Amino acid sequence: MNHKALQKLSYGVYIITTADSEKKYGCVANSVVQITSSPASVAVSINHDNATHDKILETGKFSVTILPTDVDPSIIGGFGYRSSRDVDKFEGTAHTMRDELPVPDVGMAWMTCQVKQTMDAGSHTIILGEIINCDVTRGEAIAMTYHYYHAVIKGKSPKNAPTYVAEDEKPSKIS
Ligand SMILES: Cc1cc2nc3c(=O)[nH]c(=O)nc-3n(C[C@H](O)[C@H](O)[C@H](O)COP(=O)(O)O)c2cc1C
Repeated sequence: MNHKALQKLSYGVYIITTADSEKKYGCVANSVVQITSSPASVAVSINHDNATHDKILETGKFSVTILPTDVDPSIIGGFGYRSSRDVDKFEGTAHTMRDELPVPDVGMAWMTCQVKQTMDAGSHTIILGEIINCDVTRGEAIAMTYHYYHAVIKGKSPKNAPTYVAEDEKPSKIS
């Protein structure tokens, strides 16, 4: 089996968030895909070890923020290489509360979702969410692809990303 075939799949780069009355949670995910258009729904694959995982299952809600190519790469470092257990990722990150979910302002579009179903996939849970609300905030921006993240930003896939490969190292350009 040539695992490199999996690296030819295409994705975007997103920030997934949730919150309870006390704390905000969020992580980077590449694994967002639209599932249906009516009702509009998306799915995301979230690692069991991510703090965001347990909190989404608890609150039953999450948001998706679509990152543009010109986003400051430090947002990917901040949300993708640290845990909400250890830090408040929203301190110093401009964001807007939408449907009681924190949506980082750096995105080009966002959606808020109600969890409809979950499926345990071993290391990850596939979370299906029906879209409550969504909007485009920067129509002229270009959505970042996972290829762009690897090829231009020189980013890597950390252990909890579903696309992780063992030889991946720490990112060079993102902090
Ligand atoms: C480019 C990139 C893509 C990622 N994709 C996913 C993903 O699809 N699913 C996932 O569970 N984690 C993914 N991660 C890893 C999480 O963002 C990371 O484990 C994060 O620190 C978890 O934070 P939390 O503990 O606050 O939830 C990705 C990270 C990066 C940098």
